Amino acid sequence: MRLDSFAAYEAAYAESVNNPEKFWGDIAKTFHWKQPFTKVCEWDFTTPDVKWFSDGVLNITENILDRHLAENGNRTAILWEPNDPADERQSFTYRELHGEVCRVANGLKAQGIGKGDRVVLYMPMVPELLFAVLACARIGAIHSVVFAGFSAQALADRIQDAGAVAVLTADEVRRGAKRIPLKSVVDDALHQCDSVRTVWMFPSTGASVDWTAGRDVRWADAIKGMATHCPAEAMAAEDPLFILYTSGSTGKPKGVVHSHGGYMVYTTYSFVNVFQYDANAGDVFWCTADIGWITGHSYLSYGPLLAGATQVMFEGVPTYPDVDRFWAACAHHGVTHFYTAPTAIRALMAHGDEPVQRHDLSRLKVLGTVGEPINDEAWHWYHRVVGREQCPVVDTFWQTETGGIMLSGLGGLSPMKPGHAGLPLPGIQPVLLTADGEEITETGVEGHLCFKHPWPSIIRTTYGDHERCRQTYFAAHPGHYFTGDGAKRDADGMIRVIGRVDDVINVSGHRFGTAEIEEAINQANNVVESAVVGFPHEIKGQGICAFVVGTDAIDAAVAEEASESVVSAIGRVARPDRILVVPGLPKTRSGKIMRRILRKIAEGRSSELGDVSTLLNPEVVPQLVAAFEG
Ligand code: WTA
Repeated sequence: MRLDSFAAYEAAYAESVNNPEKFWGDIAKTFHWKQPFTKVCEWDFTTPDVKWFSDGVLNITENILDRHLAENGNRTAILWEPNDPADERQSFTYRELHGEVCRVANGLKAQGIGKGDRVVLYMPMVPELLFAVLACARIGAIHSVVFAGFSAQALADRIQDAGAVAVLTADEVRRGAKRIPLKSVVDDALHQCDSVRTVWMFPSTGASVDWTAGRDVRWADAIKGMATHCPAEAMAAEDPLFILYTSGSTGKPKGVVHSHGGYMVYTTYSFVNVFQYDANAGDVFWCTADIGWITGHSYLSYGPLLAGATQVMFEGVPTYPDVDRFWAACAHHGVTHFYTAPTAIRALMAHGDEPVQRHDLSRLKVLGTVGEPINDEAWHWYHRVVGREQCPVVDTFWQTETGGIMLSGLGGLSPMKPGHAGLPLPGIQPVLLTADGEEITETGVEGHLCFKHPWPSIIRTTYGDHERCRQTYFAAHPGHYFTGDGAKRDADGMIRVIGRVDDVINVSGHRFGTAEIEEAINQANNVVESAVVGFPHEIKGQGICAFVVGTDAIDAAVAEEASESVVSAIGRVARPDRILVVPGLPKTRSGKIMRRILRKIAEGRSSELGDVSTLLNPEVVPQLVAAFEG
């Protein structure tokens, strides 16, 4: 499965395009199927309806646990690094992981949870979160992990949309020196969620919590006496594995659905090839993402474990207790493959080279980035200082909806170019289209990044609303999956992803829709209307700037209410960086808000506004500029 030269990549790529059925069929056969598949791919991008290995029966956790148990049961699967380095580290072999997952799986079953039920996980990055993810998959329950920084309202929205029967949580989450409550947030959310029968509570910090008898169960009680063996539920390849909510340009976040078979095949294949991970060489992989995001699903919970990897799981933040935390942990665990986000690189780069050079990073072989475009300066610092100019940097482009990495170099095999994700993985067929759907073949011209053939881990639906899936990804360019990103291709075929062409803002690698933030702001008492735009931010990539029209309350109060309203509707992660209280928003004569003008102002480029005289209310423009500069 692991390609070992650029020539092998080129051959695999050619085969994957010429004969995708054979290409993916051969790869998929290397997994354990309870019942082998005879069909490889059936697809139609109009409905859309995509199926991979549809008559095969499997359980993804058998390919993680049972398979490795037989061959490598004593290999370390997880090296858990706690938030506070003074706390005890934990590690789990594949055999131990199997036992822990089965105990949680049996505990869930004992509560009457089974195949097809939805279970929401709202937890810190403790090993129990990973056990719970895999336990759901083991029994065929559909997990939906909600990042432990979302608010009670955002959590309730997701629980309701998924119709979850259980929520697994903890008392609190540790984030550096801070402790943030989780159980009380769940309690708040559940006032609006009738579907939930059971809440499990893991005592992460030992904080006291309110208790609802008959509903709440202590983690230890839930798994007490449970067997360390649990048969893996037989799942059709297309049965849903999980739902993960993500933001788009309109409406509430949508539940992206991935399925057992294709997701298994693609996360494994992309993991071993992009990172050139070799379990037999004693490689140690570390993906710093939280399991609350897709990266923590595909390249922490699933891909590496499917490949039998040894990996670090980190509870904390890069700057606690000091700005050398990543590098200290890399040295301690002998990390060979390190995967993080440009925002973290930029934040750490600001502290200079010395914190990196304090540590022996000589085991590092491959560095990866994900989540947003990486600027040249950060790329070079990562390559030069962290990688000692010895490690290839893989800039991996992908999305919650793609399930796995789409564009990237493969370890040291492929050419690298700063700022360019690079070439497509085998099986991935990118095209750049004009807004009118014409294919762009010239180099250096920006177009809409689309894919014209399905890959095994493509989104199957948006939970409970298939039409929304069609509208969002398959309608703009018929016959294609559209990413929502703009990109350019150079003469060597290397692709540079520039950023979203829709109303999605990417803040520190986290996606938010401008509409969802505006809706939150508009709920505030003293707000009349608002418009939200992104602007370039030195550390976060993009920041959130909100233009808010208030009632006659004083400006500071309006701004404060607007900000709190976002925190309460979505969470601290979406708190706007700047709130400008303004007398009006620039509108066309038909009443449409001119976001182009707002974006220019927020970017500090008000000298480039051009002619605004055709606006309905051109007089607000200088007032907006004054508010920005004020
Ligand atoms: C952006 C994260 C440039 C892009 C895995 C995409 C990137 C969105 C890159 C998906 C990259 C992700 N270069 N942009 N290497 N990786 N993006 O769903 O705009 O959280 O559409 O998935 O992040 O974000 P998501």
